[in-house]
Amino acid sequence: MNSSRYLVRREQLTTYFDHTAAAAWQALTSNAPVSRVRATVRAGRDEMRETLLDWLPADLSGRTLVDAGCGTGALAIEAARRGADVYAIDVAASLVDVARQRMPEDLDSGSVAFHVGDMLNELPKKADFVVAMDSLIHYETADVLAAVERLAACACHKILFTRAPWTPALGLMHFAGRFMPTRADRAPSIEPTRIDQLMRQLDERLGMDGWWTGRTTRIQRGFYISQAIEVTM
Ligand SMILES: C[S@@+](CC[C@H](N)C(=O)[O-])C[C@H]1O[C@@H](n2cnc3c(N)ncnc32)[C@H](O)[C@@H]1O
Repeated sequence: MNSSRYLVRREQLTTYFDHTAAAAWQALTSNAPVSRVRATVRAGRDEMRETLLDWLPADLSGRTLVDAGCGTGALAIEAARRGADVYAIDVAASLVDVARQRMPEDLDSGSVAFHVGDMLNELPKKADFVVAMDSLIHYETADVLAAVERLAACACHKILFTRAPWTPALGLMHFAGRFMPTRADRAPSIEPTRIDQLMRQLDERLGMDGWWTGRTTRIQRGFYISQAIEVTM
């Protein structure tokens, strides 16, 4: 069910997050000092994580949650702190190792089950909530629609994910990037999205199954820009 384009992009992302950028990503997601530019990204990502968690019940006791593309595990750990039973999965094994090491001692170690694998192909049968923070931003819209449909087959109540909203600057960078030779150490490009259009497409595609798009909000801090999207049952 995964398109060949999805599989190619997933492999690029695995190489990038598991090897090329693993150390930088580990630093960005820690409290270690970072450059001023990265500090804006860190602040934006903190705000995005809080926003997504705020769209879930404050008390997650007795609820199950999938963190799809969990990276170093910040959202998974926070959801567990709120009582959720978390299934966290990422293709980058080195980041999942870091996430395991970052599991706080005061949390029940069984409250987050970390897995290395594909977030669309190795999901649990059912979970109350599925969250994919910044893990779908590199995939093309057609693949994201298919991905959300797949996540909807797992989620019982809500799917939260993010996309990079189309802005003139991001659109231009993306266009220019298509004609540039790719540097091996560069992150696969981010796919800018017209959010209204995406929400309409999601409603058309998932409405029949009882899902509808809900809240959406843009988080922008310096070099970080991402749009949170809610899809609920
Ligand atoms: C920008 S990072 C975000 C990580 C985490 N959600 C966070 O916000 O800290 C994107 C993550 O998605 C993971 N990823 C991308 N495609 C994936 C896939 N198909 N299955 C599982 N993980 C994936 C990457 O390995 C990377 O860790």
